[in-house]
Formats: sequence, structure tokens, C-alpha cells
Amino acid sequence: MKTTFTQKTILSFFLLCSFHLLAQNKLGRELILIDKDWRFSFGHLYDTKKDFGHAEGYFSYLTKTGFADGPAVSGFDDRAWRKLDLPHDWAVEQPFSENASFSHGFKAVGKNFPEKSIGWYRKKITIPNEDLGRVISLKFDGVFRNSKVFFNGFYLGTQESGYNGFEYDVTAYVNYGGENTIVVRVDASMEEGWFYEGAGIYRHVYLQKTNLIHVALNGTYVTSEIENNNAVITAEVKLENKGHYEGNVEISQTVLDASGKQVASNTESISAPEFYKTNVCSSKLNVKNPLLWDIDSPNLYQLITEIKSEGKVIDQYKTSFGIRTIKFDPENGFFLNGKHVKLKGTNNHQDHAGIGTALPDEIQYYRIKKLKEMGSNAYRCSHHPPTPELLKACDELGMLVIDETRLMGINDYHLNDLKRMMERDRNHPSIFCWSVGNEEWQIEGGITGERITNIMQDFSKSIDPTRPVTVGISSGFKSGISSVVEIMGYNYLGNGDIDAHRNQFKNQPGMGTEEGSTFATRGIYFTDDAKHYQSAYDKKPRPTFYSIEEGWKFYAERPYLAGMFIWTGFDYRGEPTPYGWPSVTSYFGMMDVCGFPKDNVFYLKSWWGKEPVLHVLPHWNWSGMEGKEIEVWTYSNCDEVELFLNKKSLGKKKMEQNGHLEWKVNYVPGTLEAVGYKDGKKVLSDVQKTTGKAENIKLSLDKQNVLKGNVSVVTVETTDKNGLHVPTANDEITFSIKGGKILGVGNGDPTSLESDQFIDDITLVAINNFKEQKETNASLPLQLLNYAENQWTEAFKDRDYKKQAPSYIYKGEFDLKSNSASNMVSFFYKKIGVETVVFINRNKVEPSKEDTQKYILNTSILKEGKNTIHIAATPLQKIKDWDVMNTDPGIIQVITPAEPWKRKLFNGYAQIIIQKDENVGEVVLSASAKGLRAAILKN
Ligand code: GAL
Repeated sequence: MKTTFTQKTILSFFLLCSFHLLAQNKLGRELILIDKDWRFSFGHLYDTKKDFGHAEGYFSYLTKTGFADGPAVSGFDDRAWRKLDLPHDWAVEQPFSENASFSHGFKAVGKNFPEKSIGWYRKKITIPNEDLGRVISLKFDGVFRNSKVFFNGFYLGTQESGYNGFEYDVTAYVNYGGENTIVVRVDASMEEGWFYEGAGIYRHVYLQKTNLIHVALNGTYVTSEIENNNAVITAEVKLENKGHYEGNVEISQTVLDASGKQVASNTESISAPEFYKTNVCSSKLNVKNPLLWDIDSPNLYQLITEIKSEGKVIDQYKTSFGIRTIKFDPENGFFLNGKHVKLKGTNNHQDHAGIGTALPDEIQYYRIKKLKEMGSNAYRCSHHPPTPELLKACDELGMLVIDETRLMGINDYHLNDLKRMMERDRNHPSIFCWSVGNEEWQIEGGITGERITNIMQDFSKSIDPTRPVTVGISSGFKSGISSVVEIMGYNYLGNGDIDAHRNQFKNQPGMGTEEGSTFATRGIYFTDDAKHYQSAYDKKPRPTFYSIEEGWKFYAERPYLAGMFIWTGFDYRGEPTPYGWPSVTSYFGMMDVCGFPKDNVFYLKSWWGKEPVLHVLPHWNWSGMEGKEIEVWTYSNCDEVELFLNKKSLGKKKMEQNGHLEWKVNYVPGTLEAVGYKDGKKVLSDVQKTTGKAENIKLSLDKQNVLKGNVSVVTVETTDKNGLHVPTANDEITFSIKGGKILGVGNGDPTSLESDQFIDDITLVAINNFKEQKETNASLPLQLLNYAENQWTEAFKDRDYKKQAPSYIYKGEFDLKSNSASNMVSFFYKKIGVETVVFINRNKVEPSKEDTQKYILNTSILKEGKNTIHIAATPLQKIKDWDVMNTDPGIIQVITPAEPWKRKLFNGYAQIIIQKDENVGEVVLSASAKGLRAAILKN
């Protein structure tokens, strides 16, 4: 096998370097998603033994090419590892711990948890012989973090940041016509952000195959200029040549509209780049009467780039883009396609309830739709580059984006990350601004910040001169970065005098990159510090911070400010300010971690959205509060609102622009109704009714979740006997599913320490104290004999392979923490003999049918604590003196099945994310709870 591999590698190189390369490469580009069927196991942060012996070898992977060890070796036995599909975030799977990180939401990962900080991923792929002569690469959208990737035992590189995509060319290492092994070691011990970041391969992975001459990584750049209903598209393509072909290639660029109709095309001929070099070809294309990309009508076009040689297409590359203009004006704010647009934005991190950072694509759409529904038109990727699917969702749904790099600086680490982000993202019409930093307290007020900003800003122009650059600034708005940044990013009104800054820098446009940081718990109307619940009325959160209404009024009233970005659209894990443990999520969101709206959503809908809105709060279930005064607020964009309690008017009030209305009402159960008037006419009403106790479970598919895909978001709630939603219900609901799987559960309670996921626990138990005795004949015992205790010697120690005994008996031990009857225990045997008989606690066990080197162990022959294993075997013989013989008998795998999926409702709601199995017609989700009528949802 080894010889074949080497021969093939040599052959492939011969072919690679030979004269005429293009003829062999009839196939164009293939991008194959390889998210499915990975093996995963935890390693260890500093104990190399527990890290499967990785980096223990005399030569490391950095010493000699191909000298990987431990799981990085192709032949490593990973049969006992967990099987999973990507995207995967192992942090969200862990329990919460007070010893874990505050900023990261107290999940038991990170440097204090060395056994949960290293994750190993392995996957096998077959690469056919026909691929010989193509460039084969692995493409990762993002791995958190500090990943090392190996391919067939070859070290490919380290990617420190958890936020950038990266690609490795593996062509030279491929085993054509056979199996290839991808191994990724992920080290999530260190934090990059001060917010939950997840852990593992949490974005997509692809296998890419191209011709030797191909469009380079993120190698297209499409810009447009619009004049008199005509768009002149500049389509730039960077070609890379990984072969020796010399001569011309043809580049044809075709623009398709959304229906797939060709609207422009152009063909150029350029000379192929030299070996391992790139060439850029720029084409101009005219699109007549273009349909512009806009927030309300996000029209997209596609550029199809084809590279042809001798009439054959050798690469085809698709670039989605939009035609639109953007402009910042220091007097009048932001303009999209010449029309003034006030930026109504939110900041967001990338995690979601139940699933952490491992978001299926459908959830990206779900979240962006929720924000749009609130009236928001802009999104700031705080504080790191997002996954490409988020940008795709923003392009397709019409959401403007500030794309932000992770760390400020002028060195390769910083500028290269910025460059990669910009090259990857610059064709997205949704992106209107790059952000090169946020609240860099060490430097933002001084000369160092000024210098770094100048460099990053100018550097960004060399990659994309069409968009401006901003930085979010918080410690005063006078000097340093503030004085040089192109678009001033004000983080919070309370941090400085915005008007004064603007008066000093009249030519510098500005926007509120962060505003709010208010605290609210969904469905809570009385702050309870003992329970860590913050009332959801929009009030000034801290002396130097302002309410959402105060913030919006400030920005709405100043035309020179392009708009504001609320901190944040959704709650996120970590930063549970103003509390700490056991609060695990933030309180800042307009929506909770699931996307259930807090009342602020209706304030924003009123003044950000276009539809008539009327919302009355709080709910009207205040048993025990009879006669006590309750604050009643309404959010609306009606001219007037009248409040009724049990049909009795409590007065009509005039709504002020960007305001809200308040009443004080003595609680009586019944119906609280708000009626909204426009031009004196009743146009809307909203009702809060006192409900009875919860009787039924209700499951509903979120109507926003219309993206065609296998993942759905299901809302779980309870209703009373009249079918009314019960806003105070906190029942625990248990779920089961057929035809799919549950990905995660959540409820928006910032103090919930319930599990986000219920997955089987896999523990790998080593066999210790492995000893041997020589036997005098080759026939293996069918029953274990008694062996003299003093005859056991360390197994394989000083073995003379030329003088082996006819057979050996080996003995080892393994410790089981528990031996519950529901456990599934297997011994994954690694060959230490030709013929083998295995005994567990003196019982002979048989290999399984599916794998002759796997023994499924009945728990009736096992016990808690120490167990023994005997292996009788005829010895393996060395063929060559230098053959390295296996001396490891294998590993015991204990699977403890997960409890059934469950979650408590929090103030009436919980959320469950489900994934339908492929090729299954219907997924059936069942929900039950004590004392409640069960529910079933079919999709
Ligand atoms: C800002 C910061 C955000 C978040 C927020 C919480 O200063 O930029 O990332 O930490 O404070 O209030």
C-alpha cells in the first residue's frame, strides 16, 4: 500500500510537470461539501498521552515531512470515536460550570478544562484516479480555533484565528484511486473574543478540485458604475497556474440576471500565468436597465467566469453580485442608490440557542428575517468576520452589513486576515462598510491608534476602494482613531460628546456603531436581582448608558448621523452583564437567544418599520397582584392610543414621534386592550388577556422559516382551555422525534443551566497494565486457564521477534466508572496476533458481525471498577527487521445513552431546532409534559 502510494505520487508529479497539461484535465471545477461522517474525540491540552500520543514521536510533524503521529497518522484507529456531521460546536454540548469563562457563557471548555479544550476530527475520503492532474484542495470556512490540519499524515498548516476561511492544496499528498485521511486538531483553549465563540469545526468544509489553471481563491472582484440606466460592470478575475502550461487562455465573463437570462458577456484572451503565479484579467460588461440591489428588492446577478483553452472549458466559477451605489455624506448620512437610508442596525454575535455557533444555513436566514421583521435594515458583524452563509442571507434578504475584522494591527497577522476577509467578501452587495476595529482601549485615543487606522484604512483601499472604513470607538471621540477614521463609529452616547466631535470634524461622516446595551429579560416586568431577571420596560440601564428610545431619538433627530446599530439584535451566550454566574447569556438583545421578541422589538417595529404597529405590555396574568399598580406601556406608530381595562377606557393619549405611551393601572384580571387611531379612525387593537392555567402543549413551525432546507425552528408553548397562550408557563416539556433529529433546545432564560443538547456520552477507556506469558503451543484456549501470577511480564518488552513463542496469553485491566445496563460497551481490538481469542472477566467473547475486530460486551459480564481482559494470540511476524509492530491491544468504548430531549418553557416559550433526515418524506416531533395535553407536529 505504501509503495503504491509513493508510486502514484511520483506519477502524479510527473504528469503535473509534463508538457501539455490542459489536455488531461477535461473536468472543470468541483466543490464538494464534506460535512458528513466525521469522527470526533477530545484530546488533551498538555497531557500528550491523553492527546493520543500526538507530538510524542522522536521526529515531529515539524521535523520531517509526513512524520505525523497520534491521530494525525492516516492509519490511526478511530473506530471508537464519535461519528458526527458538521457544523459542530463542542462547547455548546458541555455542561455549565462556575469555573468557566464569564465572557463565554460559563460552558465547561477553555483553559480551565484541558480535557475539553482539544478536539480531534478525522474523515476519510476517496479520490478517484481520474483526478490525477487536477489541483485538489481542502477548503474550511472557519474552525474555532488554532487548527492544525493533516492530510494523509502530512502537516498542511496552522490557522490561528477562528473566524477566517482557509484553504490547503493537498495535490502532492493524494492517494489517487484510494482512501485519503483528513485530520484536524482544534485547540479552543484560548479566547479571541469576549463573547461566546464555540469550539470546533463550526462552519462548512469542502473538497475542491480544479484544473491546474483556475480562478484563484476568492479570485473574482465585481464592481459597477451606473450611468443613465446603464451599469458598467468591471469583472476582474485572478487566474492561478499550478502547472507549466504556456500559451493563451480565453476568459469569458457572462452576466446572468436572477432568472438565469444572459444580460451581458465578454471574452478576452490572456496569456496563462507562469508556474505558481497569478495574472489578473479585467473585463467591462454593460448591463442595460439594471435591477438594482436594494433593501426592499435585493436583486442579484451572477457572473459566470469561464476559462477556456483550445476551445475546452477548464474552469467555471460563479460569483453572485449586486448592482448598487453607496455613499456617505457628512451632512446627510447614508445613501443607497442615491436614496437616503437611515441605518437601523443591530450588532450581533454568531451563536444561537441550543446550537451554539454551529448554525445550519437555514438558521442564518431565520435570524436575518427576524431582524428584518423588526424593521432593521443593517447588521454589524461584531466583532469578527462572519460565515459566508450569513452574508449570502443578507444579500438575498436585503440587509446592509458592516463586515468587521478581528484584530487591529499592521503586521501580517492583522493585515493578512483583513485582506482575506475583504477578498472573500467584497462581492457581496450587502456590505457597505468595512470595520477594522472595535473599542481598542489601549490605542484608540492616541497616536498609535491613529497610525494603525491610517495603515489599515489605506491597505483596505488596495483591496476594495469602493467601500469606506469605520472603527467602533468608545473612550472619547476627540483624538486618535476618531480623528482619522473615514466613517466615525460612535460606540454609545454616554462615551463622549457626539455633536462636539462632529463640529470639529465636519467632513467626517459618522454613525452609531453601538448604542443601547440595555438589559431586559423576555416576559419579565419586575426586575428581580435575586433571580437575575431584568424588567423588559425600556429604561436607562446604567448611568452612562441610554435606553433604546433615548438612543434612537438622538440618532433619528440628527441627519448628519447615518444611523445606529443597537447592541444587540439577539441575546448571545456570555457577557451576562449586569449579573454573573448563574446567568449565562447576555441581557442586551432586542430578542432573546432563540429570537423570541422582547417588548423593545415593538418599539423598533413602530419607528423602524413601515407597517402600522400597536403593542401593549405587560401580559395580564398577575394573580396575587390584584389592586396593585402596574405600569402599562404601548408601542405604536398610531397618532393616538386608548387603553381599556375590561372595556372601561383608561384614557386616550397622543403618541409622540419615536416615543411610547404609559399608563398606571390597578390590576384586575380580565382584558387589557389598546386601541390605535390614525387620523381619528380606529385602525388597530392589541389585547392582553388573563389566561387560565396551561392545559395544552402547542408546537408550531416558525412562519419566518421558509427557506427550503431540512432544518426547521419550532416554537413550543402552552395554551389554556380557551386556546390562549399562557405567558407565565414554565413547564418542562419532553420531546421525541421520528424521521429526523433534534439539533438543540433553548428558551431564552438567561439563567437556565439546562442542557442545550442531549447526546450520547462516549467514554474511551484505556487498557492498562498489559502483560504477557509465553505459551508452549499454537492452539489457543477456548477457556481461560489459571496462570501463575509471578510469571506475568510487561507485554512486548524486549520481544525478540526472531524467537517468538508459538502463542502468548496477554492480560490487561480497564476501569469502568459505572456499569449501567443501558450502557453500550465495545472493545475495539487492534491486531496484536494472527489468531486471537478474547476473554473479558474470564468470559470468552465473540467478535461482532460488522467488524471482526470489534467485540460488543454485554454489561452482564462487566462490573463497575476494575475489569480484566485476556487475549490469547499467535504472534504477528515481522517481514522486515525494521517493521514497527503494533503493541496496543485497543480501546474500550462506553456509550451512555442520552436522556430524552427536554426543556422548560421560559415565560411561555421554548424553541426546538429539528433536522429532517435526507430522503425522508416527513419528520414527526412529539412533545409531552406532566399534566398537559401532548402535541405532535409533522413537517
Ligand atoms: C461594548 C463592546 C461590546 C460589548 C458591549 C457590552 O463596549 O464593544 O462588544 O462588550 O460593550 O455592553
